[in-house]
Amino acid sequence: MLSAVDRRLAGMDAPSTPAVQFGRHDPARHTLVHVSDTHLLAGNRPLGGRFDTEGNLAQTLEAVERTGVRPDAIVFTGDLADLGEPDAYARLRAVVEPFAERLDAPVVWVAGNHDERPALRSGLLDSAPTQEPVTGVWDLGGLRLIALDSTVPGWHHGDLDDGQLEWLRAELSTPAAHGTMIALHHPPLPSHLPLFDILELRRQDELAAVIAGSDVRGILAGHLHYSTSGSFAGIPVNVAAATCYTMNLQRPAASVNGMDAGQSFHLVHVYDDTITHSVVPVVEAETGDYFSPEWIARMSTLTADQRLEEFSRKRAQPPG
Ligand SMILES: [Fe+2]
Ligand SMILES: [Fe+2]
Repeated sequence: MLSAVDRRLAGMDAPSTPAVQFGRHDPARHTLVHVSDTHLLAGNRPLGGRFDTEGNLAQTLEAVERTGVRPDAIVFTGDLADLGEPDAYARLRAVVEPFAERLDAPVVWVAGNHDERPALRSGLLDSAPTQEPVTGVWDLGGLRLIALDSTVPGWHHGDLDDGQLEWLRAELSTPAAHGTMIALHHPPLPSHLPLFDILELRRQDELAAVIAGSDVRGILAGHLHYSTSGSFAGIPVNVAAATCYTMNLQRPAASVNGMDAGQSFHLVHVYDDTITHSVVPVVEAETGDYFSPEWIARMSTLTADQRLEEFSRKRAQPPG
């Protein structure tokens, strides 16, 4: 799989990519699309009698496609189905697989507390319907992505058993060329919403000990239904909001509830020395057209000083 740098050198990138470097960073080496909490139901029944989870997922994926991004992977951080029904996984697959083929990117399915491992395994992974944790390792052109399974069968809180932690320790014993990202459902972060702390990830100290000194550069998570970020054992943690419904954080913490608005996904850009997580709202809004591929191309013909003169210098405004 070609990295963004390789694609640019091969002239394969979108026309909006500058032919020359405008800033101090080389283009991102890797791009991920981070989506979470689809919560599909069999027969596309409305979730809670209110939310069109399949329609909202379709709108999210259409928004992803409008970005023109060609990601190295599309990561779904859990709660893929609301009740773990086989038809929900079949519906999810029917929507996501053609999308992933168009983007030519692998899909990383992460289990969440609303999922059921046996149905997820048979419905999405074509594997035996067992209660084994749903884990995996991907080599995305030098960036290693490790999916952990923080679910506990029969419960909604999160945990990581000794077997999974030992497996993770063994995987991390060999560093990857461009470092490692971990994806799991329950974020190792506090929430200001009391309901989520009841369901928090257990054994976080043990997880911290396993990743200490390793090449882990970031953690992707879901579960909260709102976008947030923090750090865990010194490693950035980014939580993508949900596609099904999101938490209305305008309310006091004790009475926050879901609303059919605010859905978003994250564009994750992996640079050599940093990683950015850009929250993309799933909305259609009238948008200006000043910046265009032609504008970028014209900027590319200028020197760095000319670009500053053209685009950075403040112009005198007429009084009034
Ligand atoms: Fe969820
Ligand atoms: Fe969850």
